[in-house]
Amino acid sequence: MSDKEKLKKDLTDWFEWFHAHPELSYEEYGTTDKIREILTNAGVKILPYDLETGLVAVIEGEKKGPVQALRCDIDGLPVTEQTDLPYISECPGKMHACGHDFHITVGIGCAILLQAQKKDLAGTVKIIFQPGEETALGALKILATDVMDGVEQIWGIHSDPTNEVGVLGIREGYVAAAADRFVIKVKGTGCHGAHPDDGIDPIAAATAIVQGFWTIPARNMNAFHPTLISVARIQAGTTWNVIPETAEIEGTVRTLDREDRVLFEKRVKEIATGVARAYGAEAEITWIAGAPSVYNDGKMAEKSSVVAEKCGFSVVPEESSMGGDDFSLYEENIPGCYIKIGTGKGPTIHQPNFRVDEKAILPAAEYLVELLMEV
Ligand code: NI
Repeated sequence: MSDKEKLKKDLTDWFEWFHAHPELSYEEYGTTDKIREILTNAGVKILPYDLETGLVAVIEGEKKGPVQALRCDIDGLPVTEQTDLPYISECPGKMHACGHDFHITVGIGCAILLQAQKKDLAGTVKIIFQPGEETALGALKILATDVMDGVEQIWGIHSDPTNEVGVLGIREGYVAAAADRFVIKVKGTGCHGAHPDDGIDPIAAATAIVQGFWTIPARNMNAFHPTLISVARIQAGTTWNVIPETAEIEGTVRTLDREDRVLFEKRVKEIATGVARAYGAEAEITWIAGAPSVYNDGKMAEKSSVVAEKCGFSVVPEESSMGGDDFSLYEENIPGCYIKIGTGKGPTIHQPNFRVDEKAILPAAEYLVELLMEV
């Protein structure tokens, strides 16, 4: 068996193991141990950070060059798998339904291949195996270390079930949204359902606030900029004939452009406060800022496309998503590029029947190695 065949087999076996043993955000203990064991056996150095879960591998090239990072997220989701895969999840109610098992395995493949080519590698590559991406803030755990010191650019990957194996989605610009959350408590005055004139109905105010929100994308935002608001929870009352004192509204705002994000937040607050007041009620707003939008640097996108074609991949324009990814937190001070790797067309991510074609693993690792080595 050639070295390449051996690596391909190992990567497939490891992928199947990770797939069968998904762990939720910040509980990735077994996953971290397994990554550590594989990398240690391969002679790859692991940085001595005191991370509960997740780890950072480093490959120091023997030639002078830049410090680059590659981010691979490692957590699974609370989804019950519904596939007929022979390596189906062995953990009830948990599944690698976002392909992070694929990201882990590609990251491992990349580390092993780079380690073997250290002589020719110019500069240093840090491979970040990040916990808690699904919470949208796991990157903060990594950023609390000094791992990003000196890093000049960062690459990210994601499995893509809208493209076949051999196809990469790459594009300059915004590719994932800022994902902010809001909770609004509308305070009125409770009363008998038969005598609404005795109180201030928070439900009437809350429903008017929600109706007001729909006008923000349509009336306040540039029509060429994608933005959205979703109200995902409205809660009020306990029975049929009592008007409650409060009502709660919770939801998310998604924006790509940084200025739109600021304006959207301002409008949500203005509408909630103003409409509540018009109904005689009061609105208390809690704004929970998530990770900002992911922006692909032009030069990095260009380079990754050129290398992709050299490696035999076909490149299509990357689709923007209103989903978020905390990869953006690494991009606060340095350029980044987030590449979508075709893993076979099928059900979308986060679905119980999502699956990754294993044929995508080795070529993706080889491609990233080319990309990281070409400086
Ligand atoms: Ni994901």
